[in-house]
Amino acid sequence: MRPVYLDNNATTRVDPAVVAAMLPYFTEHYGNPSSAHAFGGPSRQAMKAAREQVAALAGAGFSDEILFTSGGTESDNTAIRAGLAANPGRDEVVVSAVEHPAVLALVRLLEGEGRIKAHFIPVLPCGCLDRERYRAALSPRVAVVSIMWANNETGVVFPVEALAEEAKAVGAVFHTDAVQAAGREPIELGGSAIDLLSMSAHKLHGPKGVGALYVRRGFKLAPLIAGGRQERARRGGTENVPGVVGFGKAAEIAAPRLRGDAARMRALRDRLESGLVGRIRHAAVLGASAERLPNTSAIVFADVEAEAIAALLAREGIAVSTGAACSAGSQAPSHVLEAMAIPMAAKFGAVRFSLSRDSDDDDIDRALSALPDIVARLRDRPARAATGETALREVAYV
Ligand SMILES: Cc1ncc(COP(=O)(O)O)c(C=O)c1O
Repeated sequence: MRPVYLDNNATTRVDPAVVAAMLPYFTEHYGNPSSAHAFGGPSRQAMKAAREQVAALAGAGFSDEILFTSGGTESDNTAIRAGLAANPGRDEVVVSAVEHPAVLALVRLLEGEGRIKAHFIPVLPCGCLDRERYRAALSPRVAVVSIMWANNETGVVFPVEALAEEAKAVGAVFHTDAVQAAGREPIELGGSAIDLLSMSAHKLHGPKGVGALYVRRGFKLAPLIAGGRQERARRGGTENVPGVVGFGKAAEIAAPRLRGDAARMRALRDRLESGLVGRIRHAAVLGASAERLPNTSAIVFADVEAEAIAALLAREGIAVSTGAACSAGSQAPSHVLEAMAIPMAAKFGAVRFSLSRDSDDDDIDRALSALPDIVARLRDRPARAATGETALREVAYV
């Protein structure tokens, strides 16, 4: 049976056209972009073209605002440390409680070292940011604010443009982790108050291990990686030329078809959600009332552990996740679900279905036909006391 891949927030299939664009940069145009001789030229040209392609995807005004990195994690780390360096004399950092570990782990590390005071802004049960708590945390002591564009577990989108305006009003640097949004949602940085924005190629059908940080023109970025003067002295190390070329190609492919792909994914995702909620009692979509990415759905099935559902789906060749890929299998409750403060979700977890432009009706049909039986089998286990009614009350307002 054909495997069904519904875990595109973990990573996406590399587009064959991306692979084809990358290949010559391994064996033919293998020169170092910093070399003055003839071998350097094609690599340099290719990096320039890729920078323009990625800038266009992000709606950046200038291609030199794009700094290539090794991925979303490095972009996030660079942004937060550079934000602190750009605002000496301030030592507070504001993040949401549902950021990716690429942000949260660094913030906790800096806090543990006594270098910063961190504010973790809670979310409401809908997954939306608590705007009052956000405003209350902003002060002239805040060096950097980092709030994600869209959450990787629920797909909930944050109003980052408005949040950036508020952060700028107190003189803070504003960074957003747009790793899940880039290529799925239109991003228009020109004219926005966002200073720094992270992207990662492998979430948009590009290669793994390459990403970018948008750095608003005029922002003096302290490098995370000290070394040579690559990337206009903002990141040391010989560039990953094939990876960068692949990222550029992936961005070039995604940009013109973004709205069409989003509409198609949304229709498939909505069919999956209404089909599951219609067929399975006590199932609820997290963040359903909030603005969400078109490809993501996190569903709680009362009284059954999401991990158990995912394991049985895997046996039927259907790949889903129960949270961020890095924490799947750990059984540790997801910090995102805990932050949403829906006890049933924190207790049983949520199954995350994430689609891509490759997803089709057949994938949705397979999930719709497998899940009701899997959930019923798990609920029939004698150890499970039926608490579905409680669950329904808890999730009714999300
Ligand atoms: C929201 C978010 N930020 C950052 C990352 C890390 O990106 P990368 O895997 O490119 O380091 C991920 C990856 O899952 C993510 O979902």
